[in-house]
Amino acid sequence: MIVYFSGTGNSRYAASCLADQLQDTVQDAALWIRQDQPAALHSEKPWIFVSPTYAWQLPRVFVRFLQRSQFTGSSEVYFFMTCGAEIGASAGAVRALCAEKGWTCKGVVPVPMPDNYIIMFPAPQPEEAQEQIRQARERLCQLAKKVQAGQYFPDPPISVMDRIKSGIVNQMFYRFYLRSKSFYTTAACIGCGHCADICPLHNIRIRDHHPHWDNHCTHCMACISECPVRAIEYGKKTKGKARYRCITYAPKHQ
Ligand SMILES: Cc1cc2nc3c(=O)[nH]c(=O)nc-3n(C[C@H](O)[C@H](O)[C@H](O)COP(=O)(O)O)c2cc1C
Repeated sequence: MIVYFSGTGNSRYAASCLADQLQDTVQDAALWIRQDQPAALHSEKPWIFVSPTYAWQLPRVFVRFLQRSQFTGSSEVYFFMTCGAEIGASAGAVRALCAEKGWTCKGVVPVPMPDNYIIMFPAPQPEEAQEQIRQARERLCQLAKKVQAGQYFPDPPISVMDRIKSGIVNQMFYRFYLRSKSFYTTAACIGCGHCADICPLHNIRIRDHHPHWDNHCTHCMACISECPVRAIEYGKKTKGKARYRCITYAPKHQ
């Protein structure tokens, strides 16, 4: 079974592509995360967990979901981490999580895809994003064959800089940078509630026809990227920037 967490669709796309190649089923972890509930899932095939990379680690919200949930059947697991560029030294923490869960970690695999973090970077141009997705799809097809063959994936080489990014920089990101209070809506907001419906953390409430962000946001970028009237901004950091969300995976002729 393939279980994913996704803000803007890259990891959903990667999970669907792997499921298609491996004839496996897909589950969206947000179904449980939104309700703050653990999952109880069973799979005879190796587990494949797919998620974005946040500050060179797995998103903490996804780690918490994995820690609390029960996964019976196979004890073999693969982690596919979609990323804008690199996953740093995250394999170390993933392997520690596997040890805690009694899992055999068969690989922690980076899957470069368009960078969705528009609070920090500009969104890629549509043609560039399309090309990155095409390359990711090709890579995922090759990786799926290795999973099918039961292969192990060696961890990528890790530099001192990787350790710093996945260590102290990750901690500072969560401590000082991850805030929801800078989100606001402009006059363009029509109060449709779409942002609240799609927030994978159930962190947005609609009051007086406008969204209000609670304080357990993880900056997944779903609300700001999916707003149908582009009415959501994050301080001054997203002004004038294009939004990004991944296309839906289509099994054939794409
Ligand atoms: C909060 C946040 C932190 C991110 N940190 C990293 C990072 O450390 N390294 C990286 O290569 N990409 C980083 N990204 C980019 C995403 O990992 C990447 O675009 C991912 O594919 C998005 O997946 P999704 O569409 O399934 O949410 C970050 C994105 C967000 C929103």
